[in-house]
Amino acid sequence: MLEAKNISKSYPTPRGPLPILNNVTLSLAAGDAISIIGPSGTGKSTLLYILGALEPPTSGEVTLDGRDPFTLSEKDVSAFRNQEVGFVFQDHCLLPQCTVLENVLIPTLVGREKSEERAKQLLDQVGLSHRLDHRPAELSGGEKQRVAIARAMIRGPKLLLCDEPTGNLDRHTAAQVADVLVEMNRASKNILILVTHSAELAGRCPKVFELVEGQLVAK
Ligand SMILES: Nc1ncnc2c1ncn2[C@@H]1O[C@H](COP(=O)(O)OP(=O)(O)O)[C@@H](O)[C@H]1O
Ligand SMILES: [Mg+2]
Repeated sequence: MLEAKNISKSYPTPRGPLPILNNVTLSLAAGDAISIIGPSGTGKSTLLYILGALEPPTSGEVTLDGRDPFTLSEKDVSAFRNQEVGFVFQDHCLLPQCTVLENVLIPTLVGREKSEERAKQLLDQVGLSHRLDHRPAELSGGEKQRVAIARAMIRGPKLLLCDEPTGNLDRHTAAQVADVLVEMNRASKNILILVTHSAELAGRCPKVFELVEGQLVAK
């Protein structure tokens, strides 16, 4: 269960605080999938960073299965992010010198566990089991994003946060990547939050919200 209560965020500027989020409240259960749309600069990324414990809110509370990451020590919050949250960004952020399989295993290096079987299984789920030894430069944009999704899923996160993951892809490839995300969500019963510019892709999630003037409005 992900619960965000009265999340507000403002950034300090020389002319005073700039309000971005205004009392956002959200409650999602395991297996839920939502998308968030809204024009550029409305605070979608800021909200994802707060939900993923990358950035603290100015006020309000976030809990994932009862744990508030912002009350944890620096070390414990890193472990929390590594274990409980998967991120997929607009840029795939793969390491060019590593193979597809090695890239998917990167988050497990922190946990020092043997995860190769799981990595191969995930790469099979995203349709790339035949590309394990390829380098990112040998993959298309959509394939790179599918590797990034497998990497985000390697530790079995409760929460998968995707920030415009198809923003650099053509329409057809974007639809394929969205299919992979929705299928992952169905199979793993994690919570999926998909931020996208595309109303068409947003519609793949059962619930669509728009971020308007710092608040989430159900569409
Ligand atoms: N670290 C920061 N300091 C000051 N302003 C920021 C910072 N990060 C984001 N902003 C501002 O907050 C607003 C929302 O940004 P963002 O969450 O990236 O929006 P979106 O993802 O919807 O495009 C923007 O006006 C942006 O300039
Ligand atoms: Mg953004």
